Amino acid sequence: MTSTGFFITLEGGDGAGKTTVIGRVREYLQQQKRPYLVTREPGGIEIAEKIRSIILNPAHTAMDARTEALLYAAARSQHLAEVVEPALQQGMIVLCDRFVDSSLVYQGNARGLGVEAVRSINKFATGGLAPDLTLYLDVDPEVGLSRISANQDREVNRLDLESLAFHRKVREGYLAIAAEEPQRVVVLDANRPLESVEQDVLQVLKDRFLKDIGDNLSN
Ligand code: TMP
Repeated sequence: MTSTGFFITLEGGDGAGKTTVIGRVREYLQQQKRPYLVTREPGGIEIAEKIRSIILNPAHTAMDARTEALLYAAARSQHLAEVVEPALQQGMIVLCDRFVDSSLVYQGNARGLGVEAVRSINKFATGGLAPDLTLYLDVDPEVGLSRISANQDREVNRLDLESLAFHRKVREGYLAIAAEEPQRVVVLDANRPLESVEQDVLQVLKDRFLKDIGDNLSN
């Protein structure tokens, strides 16, 4: 376990439904007695949000893949130092929307920089901090991208504009990580209606909280 807290990450391809699910998880955590923090990458704090807006600006078509990977790692490092590590040290449950796995699959697999190269810059950025639990919302890219185009309120970012082939590589990357680390990564089928996905996410949390932090949390 990470320090005295419990570090959970939420991962998934674009349109997997992370934002909807995270809203429901936040409600669930509010009902518990334990302090918690919900945050997101890249961002959550001023310096990292500024880096996020540079990375995701659809006008920045000239951005080199290495620059992109380094900017994500820089935002992550700042976010960890300012937000995540202090919260974990205080014993909080921290739920982070995206973490290193996103860089491994988007920059390592889909952009083609190689998973090991991206892993090594992230090791430097994070000091090796790893999640206790990762919830991966697995969506067929065609389903994910059609959800995005149906959702008028969502910002369209530079990575949404990538081809279907790019998003397929993202998914293959996630499935490979899940196969390598089945104890850490729980795969949830996010092609189903999001209410079913939410139910499953809450069940996983209840089971893991009981097992790993010994808390008998309420329903
Ligand atoms: P989202 O968090 O709003 O889904 O969008 C952030 C976008 O940034 C998404 O397309 C995935 C991408 N991303 C990376 O490519 N690498 C990363 O390390 C992270 C955190 C996000």
